[in-house]
Amino acid sequence: MKTLITGGTIVTASDNYKGDVLVDGEKIDMIGRDLKAGGAKRINATGKYVIPGGIDVHTHMELPFGGTFASDDFETGTRAAAFGGTTTIVDFAVQGMGEPLEKARDAWLKKARGKAVIDYGLHMIVRDVSDRVVREMDTMVKEGVSSFKLFMAYPGVFMVDDASIFKALTRAAEIGGLICMHAENGGVIDVLVKRALASKHTAPKWHALTRPPEAEGEATGRAFRLAEMAGGVPLYIVHLSAANALEQVRLFRDRGLPAYAETCPQYLFLSVDNYDEPGFDGAKYVMSPPLREKWHQDELWKGLARNDLQVISTDHCPFCMKEGFQGQPKQKELGIGDFSKIPNGAPGVETRMYLTYDGGVVQNRITLNRWVEVTSTTPAKLMGMFPKKGTIAVGSDADIVVWDPRAIHTISAKTHHMRVDYNPYEGRKVKGKPVVVMSRGEVIVEKDTFFGRKGRGRFIKRGSPILQT
Ligand code: URP
Ligand code: ZN
Ligand code: ZN
Repeated sequence: MKTLITGGTIVTASDNYKGDVLVDGEKIDMIGRDLKAGGAKRINATGKYVIPGGIDVHTHMELPFGGTFASDDFETGTRAAAFGGTTTIVDFAVQGMGEPLEKARDAWLKKARGKAVIDYGLHMIVRDVSDRVVREMDTMVKEGVSSFKLFMAYPGVFMVDDASIFKALTRAAEIGGLICMHAENGGVIDVLVKRALASKHTAPKWHALTRPPEAEGEATGRAFRLAEMAGGVPLYIVHLSAANALEQVRLFRDRGLPAYAETCPQYLFLSVDNYDEPGFDGAKYVMSPPLREKWHQDELWKGLARNDLQVISTDHCPFCMKEGFQGQPKQKELGIGDFSKIPNGAPGVETRMYLTYDGGVVQNRITLNRWVEVTSTTPAKLMGMFPKKGTIAVGSDADIVVWDPRAIHTISAKTHHMRVDYNPYEGRKVKGKPVVVMSRGEVIVEKDTFFGRKGRGRFIKRGSPILQT
């Protein structure tokens, strides 16, 4: 099956040019001017951008958290991703305490297989860094799970100590893996949470007040120092929210260290003021790290423009506000009367490309090429999927989005496809939207209609990170 995408402006991380793209089967076969292909299905992209599909390297489908599970599974979550122009995700498998990594990986593959509509990779959340687990990391990398998330927060649940971090950093570098770090000082946060609750401060906004930006800055700096002590090994900070943490990334990058970080739309568009929404509505924004004061947003945009931040992911981890939505149990409401029991996370896998094109490119904060780079090309490189994914090139997977730069879209829970009963950006009008979304040569979304099918998505065996970004 051949498809010819004609007349569009092809946009990659480095170039913009008018051209046609011929897709043969699952791959990009030819790029050129006035291509001919008898019998091919034709897609007219005149006046549109032809970009590599978005790559979201931070999602949590069905994540178990605080007594419940994130409300999107691999079917609903990847379908929503496709509607928003994302054609690959990397989700986090979670190791149970003492559990072999292979078992956790297989459990997540079971969740994804037969459900995912787009391709997916897996990271591994490592909760117990025993000698056995450190040895198992090698098998994981060889079998395509080449990145490992560690937590410096959530004592007693996910948090690991500095010795464990140091061991994992050293091992990951030896075997061509990458450590992804949740950098918040969990010990200090725990004390602040206990003090707040003892003073009867129970409202959602106390989630933010007990997780100050300094706790993120400290942990980020400590993580990079540990990476430096381990021999200057690569380290990737996930969901960076605060200027305090960005300062640390910049410091270590300026020293020539392989220091990388992602931020997420919620930190670029929402702020601590959202926690003041009436009643219990502040719970919509309970995520970790929390939303920050508005001034941090400008710093993060500057960080993206200057390559101190290399990736925009989502940390998609939805929990419903009300019990019963599409059969979901009580989720955010678990924290009525105690902010520390509100499941941490918010939806975003569908809205990342919309928000960042509008807020980034239309608002002149980043260039069109930089947008493609931070939402697709660099995620593919750092997570070992390039050039199979993340670019428009001959031989790459035909994961292609035809993007209409003039279309106006209003974000709303009434029309979104994520399985969650609210949208943090409700009512926001954005310019630019995907009109055709192709995954490995198959049109899976066209003009807001889904043509994919559950289970067509494949597990991607990822390689080692490409670090010169
Ligand atoms: O609040 C968040 N971020 N929930 C998901 C788990 C994590 O730390 O990424
Ligand atoms: Zn995290
Ligand atoms: Zn996360």
